[in-house]
Amino acid sequence: MHILHIVGARPNFMKAAPVIRALAAHDVIRQSLVHTGQHYDAAMSDVFFQQLGMPAPDCNLGVGSGTHAQQTAAVMQAFEPVLLERKPDLVLVYGDVNSTVAAALVCAKLGVRVGHVEAGLRSRDRTMPEEINRLVTDQLAELLFTPSADGDLNLKDEGIPAEKIFRVGNVMIDSLVKLLPVAQRQGRENLPGRYALVTLHRPANVDDSVVLKRILQSLLEVGQDLPVIFPAHPRTRKRIDDFGLNADRLQLLDPLSYLEFLRMQSHATVVITDSGGIQEETTYLGVPCLTLRENTERPVTVSLGTNVLVGRDPDKLRFELSRILAGKAKKGSIPPLWDGHAGERIAALVAGETRQPALSFSQVN
Ligand code: UD1
Repeated sequence: MHILHIVGARPNFMKAAPVIRALAAHDVIRQSLVHTGQHYDAAMSDVFFQQLGMPAPDCNLGVGSGTHAQQTAAVMQAFEPVLLERKPDLVLVYGDVNSTVAAALVCAKLGVRVGHVEAGLRSRDRTMPEEINRLVTDQLAELLFTPSADGDLNLKDEGIPAEKIFRVGNVMIDSLVKLLPVAQRQGRENLPGRYALVTLHRPANVDDSVVLKRILQSLLEVGQDLPVIFPAHPRTRKRIDDFGLNADRLQLLDPLSYLEFLRMQSHATVVITDSGGIQEETTYLGVPCLTLRENTERPVTVSLGTNVLVGRDPDKLRFELSRILAGKAKKGSIPPLWDGHAGERIAALVAGETRQPALSFSQVN
């Protein structure tokens, strides 16, 4: 059986790595890896491949940046001939980026089965490009691998048959579990005693000068209480420069490697972010997370984990930060099946070696 994986953007890499590794243990499986080139800077892509121990891609479509339509169309156009040539039995797509939906569309039109890893997440906010990608990809996929029970319910509510849905846990946490000891080997070297770690890249937060200015102002206020370390996504760095905003008193860094960012998260006093995956990683690490969004497609990080949605309300950010600094941070627990073995469960299902009693897996065999 030939399985082709599609990855394109930074958050895909730590999700695909454990699945590829787990599938390699099944000798009935042959694998190939296609990188769409959505993320192309070494700091956004190559370093993750090295640190996650991923094989080099068999092919890079080199699509690069563009508008949503341009980027999605470029992946579709470049991927179609690759799919026709390689003829995989199953294509695995990851997460919710433009490369994910584009590849799923190409497969669906050519009758190639798609498995979606990290299916079922919903923010119910269709202004988020990722929400559109999630909705469409899940409708096209034959196999939907969910990280948590809310994912199963969302899919069933959208009419997806139960026999296509497999709750396997969180593959991103697989990478974290494997590499946290490596990340922590360096200890707290060069890190302040207390600090806030910040990431910011959502279009809704960074593409509007007024909104971005207000967020930076809030972060400057945070900086009065503790150092703010801010590895900036290229998109955010560009917006700060384009809008002529002042971030001098924030420690703006280039994007960090997977291991360095993990080390910084694990020692942070608080993480302030608008990322999806970081809400999950902080929940696993038990580190307080304040999310600069009104909603989340990862509600277990709020119900069980350490995540608090502060939206764009500076008062709420201030209030939640003061609780954390006063030692009254929300205590969380690790959601079920976030145990470092989600990739193995996917591999076992795909290789047809295990079956969940209530679910049929006949599509793949
Ligand atoms: C994409 C994903 C988002 C994910 C994020 C993680 C979509 C719709 N969005 O957003 O869900 O959370 O990745 O990073 O797929 N750029 C570079 N170098 C790169 C990549 C991007 O300079 O290697 C710059 C370009 O100016 C580009 C901009 O970043 O226009 C945005 O990149 P893009 O891939 O469109 O979306 P992200 O914001 O990275």
